[in-house]
Amino acid sequence: MEKKRNGFASGIGFILAAAGSAIGLGNLWGFPYKTATNGGAAFVLIYIACVLLIGFCTMLAEQFIGRRAQANPVSAFKKISPKLGWCGLVAVVVPTFIICYYSVLGGWTVKYAVSSFAGNADIIGTFSVNTWEVILFTGLFILASVLIIMGGVEKGIEKMSKILMPILAVIVLLVAVYSLTLGEGVKEGLTFYLKPDFSGVTFKTVLTAMGQAFYSLSLGMGIMITYGSYAGKEIDLTKSCAMICIFDTAIALLAGLAIFPAVAHFDASLLGSSQGVALMYIILPKVFQYMGFAGKLVSFLFFTMVTIAAVTSVISLIEVTTQFVLQKFMVNRKLAAVAVAVLCFAVSIPVGISLGHVAILEESSPALFGLDWLTFFDEVTNTVLMPVCALFSCLVVGWIIKPRAAIGEMEVEGTHFPKWLRKVYPLMIRFITPLLILVVEIGGLVTEIKNDNVAVVIFAYGLVIVSILLYFLFFAKTYTGTNADEKLAEK
Ligand code: PHE
Repeated sequence: MEKKRNGFASGIGFILAAAGSAIGLGNLWGFPYKTATNGGAAFVLIYIACVLLIGFCTMLAEQFIGRRAQANPVSAFKKISPKLGWCGLVAVVVPTFIICYYSVLGGWTVKYAVSSFAGNADIIGTFSVNTWEVILFTGLFILASVLIIMGGVEKGIEKMSKILMPILAVIVLLVAVYSLTLGEGVKEGLTFYLKPDFSGVTFKTVLTAMGQAFYSLSLGMGIMITYGSYAGKEIDLTKSCAMICIFDTAIALLAGLAIFPAVAHFDASLLGSSQGVALMYIILPKVFQYMGFAGKLVSFLFFTMVTIAAVTSVISLIEVTTQFVLQKFMVNRKLAAVAVAVLCFAVSIPVGISLGHVAILEESSPALFGLDWLTFFDEVTNTVLMPVCALFSCLVVGWIIKPRAAIGEMEVEGTHFPKWLRKVYPLMIRFITPLLILVVEIGGLVTEIKNDNVAVVIFAYGLVIVSILLYFLFFAKTYTGTNADEKLAEK
């Protein structure tokens, strides 16, 4: 029997796909190093509070907006008000920019996975500035992702998530257990990672935790709207969001358990320097090398795990743009996916070149307004635009659709709201969550301006203005499609 609706076939498929998006470099690399540099266990506790306070509520709002429209973010916001469709357009533009740098890091990871047995310890210097190799691996990474997307939501994204996510969970567990049984250094590693010390907590720590929660949960970039649009009415959204938040946090915590004991076992003095790019691409390879043959195997497992996590994240980014292109222009899925991928691949080339020079030679060429391309894109999207998009979702649910109506709509469709959540959610989504998001946004702006990155702010808000103009010029009065159109476009 042919399914009428185009989307995920099962609740667990939906949860795994969304968790696949959420679990990525942010968990396996970002979370451990941010924990390390922001006060260890104290940061972990603040992070968990942020997941509960802003993460869960925003995710529910985004998935709800998508599911009620069964359409891309532009049409979804348009359904709320034709004047607001541009909010959806911003939510399509943001992931498109992220793809361009996320794929470069994904490419690095593929390279590290395949050369694990030859040893990765010293390759950073030669690999990251070897432009052709960087481009090749970025290309391979994008190709793998786009092939999955071409398979469609159910037969591509859902099917692969169901296979890849359990593999990823098993690998992270294996590596963590291995790390914890290394003996010497394990205790120092764990103390560093887990012993709370609130004395170092500052406002910046809280800001970093909030930003990390957004990024890690894939919020504020159209993804949860798009994936929500493919969720059937039978799916319980509160339960799904809770599971996604739990999976995402659990994997982040496990990643720390896998990394810190191993680093301390190798050389405890490296703990304090476990920052940024260095942790995953310079320090860990050295640790693996020191472990002899077992290290090669663990390195292979580790980077395979990171590659899987990055692929399932980047497919969610590419899917947002692909969904919009295919529904708006009524082209078939394969064509839309390839067009998006080619465009992003082209932009990823300067990003890749720029990153190699910054990480290794410490000279920034080619640069964008004084920053390397990767940092520039990262700040534009994550620091400035992600909170803006998340704010749109919360505000429309809190103030336009109204929480009572939203909860009613969800309950009619079978989503279960426990009594306490029915009381708390309206308060959260109208006041507390938006306020906290606003704090993140303002904090981000202040940091950018203080760091002399005014160009980042101008570029980011420029994108919002361009989205508004494009929307009112081209999309406001024309039909922007729904998921149901996808089947027609295939014909
Ligand atoms: N949530 C993903 C992570 O933790 C990152 C991501 C960001 C994925 C943006 C998609 C979009 O790595």
